Amino acid sequence: MRFPAEPFRIKVVEPLRRVTREEREQRIAEAGLNIFSVPADTIYVDLLTDSGTSAMSDNQWAGLMLGDESYAGSKNFYTFVETVRDIFGYPHVIPTHQGRMAENLLFTTLLKKGDVVPNNIHFDTTRANVEAQQAVALDLVVDEGLDPTADLPFKGNLDPEKLDRALAEHGPERIPVVMLTVTNNSGGGQPVSIANVKAVRKVCDRYGVPLFFDACRFAENSWFVKQREPGYQDREVIDIAREMFSYGDGCTMSAKKDGLVNIGGFLAMKNAEWAERITNLLILVEGFPTYGGLAGRDLEAIARGLREVLNEDYLAFRVGQVAHLGDLLVQAGVPIVKPVGGHAVYIDAKRMLPHIPQSQFPGQSLVVALYREYGIRAVEVGSLMFGHKDPKTGADVFPQLELVRLAIPRRVYTTEHMRYVADSVIQLFNEREKLRGLRLSYEAPVLRHFTARLEEIGRADVARSTPGRVEHSATR
Ligand SMILES: Cc1ncc(COP(=O)(O)O)c(C=O)c1O
Repeated sequence: MRFPAEPFRIKVVEPLRRVTREEREQRIAEAGLNIFSVPADTIYVDLLTDSGTSAMSDNQWAGLMLGDESYAGSKNFYTFVETVRDIFGYPHVIPTHQGRMAENLLFTTLLKKGDVVPNNIHFDTTRANVEAQQAVALDLVVDEGLDPTADLPFKGNLDPEKLDRALAEHGPERIPVVMLTVTNNSGGGQPVSIANVKAVRKVCDRYGVPLFFDACRFAENSWFVKQREPGYQDREVIDIAREMFSYGDGCTMSAKKDGLVNIGGFLAMKNAEWAERITNLLILVEGFPTYGGLAGRDLEAIARGLREVLNEDYLAFRVGQVAHLGDLLVQAGVPIVKPVGGHAVYIDAKRMLPHIPQSQFPGQSLVVALYREYGIRAVEVGSLMFGHKDPKTGADVFPQLELVRLAIPRRVYTTEHMRYVADSVIQLFNEREKLRGLRLSYEAPVLRHFTARLEEIGRADVARSTPGRVEHSATR
């Protein structure tokens, strides 16, 4: 399937070091088969994340030179605020150094112990910031959002009936805010429809509860609306974004995604009293309100990035490039999560490697092979990331989905790079019986995937593996 070619040409290049298979074999062994511990300069195509890995444009780099680093009242702050107000429509704009600080400031201000925050699916940092207030993070995505084979247009939607039930059960006094993540990263980068935003708003209104967006990938979401939602085909993407945000009361934003920058974020909202309390907290933990943990030049780059990301040629290419990688894999029979989301392709490692039980980390086995054989870095989103021991029985509990995520940085890799990735995955798929299971030799008590060490299991061990229990959960 064809998609629009790159709507940019390359002015500056960053050379990639090609290392030998022997060196990679040594590096991954030294890293304890953990891809987070491998030096980045030994990687040829790095698909670990789309966050903070974008290439900035000449226009953004030029903006950096116009950075006004005054402690207070930097001119870049005013450009930044004007841009955010124009697109998002919320009057109070608070810069932060990245998305999780926006979440932290919001939840520290709004939540108290025992409160509940519904979301389609909380991203890890969002969940952690809710739980840090001893509140409960509730995932209410539509059921199809958890089925990797359901090829539907808006699998990121939040189920309004589940939301209604949650509000009736807990009461609006215990739900200070409802969140909606666009696109739904933890559910595979699937979009949310405008019809769903309206339906969620209606439920919120019935109970008098505010609605906030986790807006990291708002432009990609708006593009999907234009492509897939009846009635939006002739609308400009910026108008779709404006309409979407008009149904909300505010947003948190990591500009490291659809801000097209390497660092930055913000909070924006209608409520002046909340904004005042958050700003006071901001001064304590981030900085003065006109820079909020960033340099003036960063604010300028974000302002310019937010405009560029809404360019429809860019979005057609961006979402098309990710879909193209998915198409190449599907054509070769590689099982992936369908449909392909906005920022990543997810390989279904459970279906690709049925000979490796979840207790032996099939997703991580594929991640290790991709690096060792082809110099590609992907990330496991499965039993290594989410598996744990049942606190009562001590038995292994595994997530329902065992995925390997190929997240595509924005404007960084060419279509030829994508073909290289597809060919590499297909080659491994064709030789999948050769891949072995892994076992842990070290694990930290929390977030073990970042620092775990593993070793390959010999064939004789495979027959002794235990199946464990499968838990119903989403991908993060
Ligand atoms: C949906 C979502 N929310 C919040 C965040 C946190 O943003 P940051 O990494 O800038 O703190 C991310 C980052 O990946 C994300 O994908």
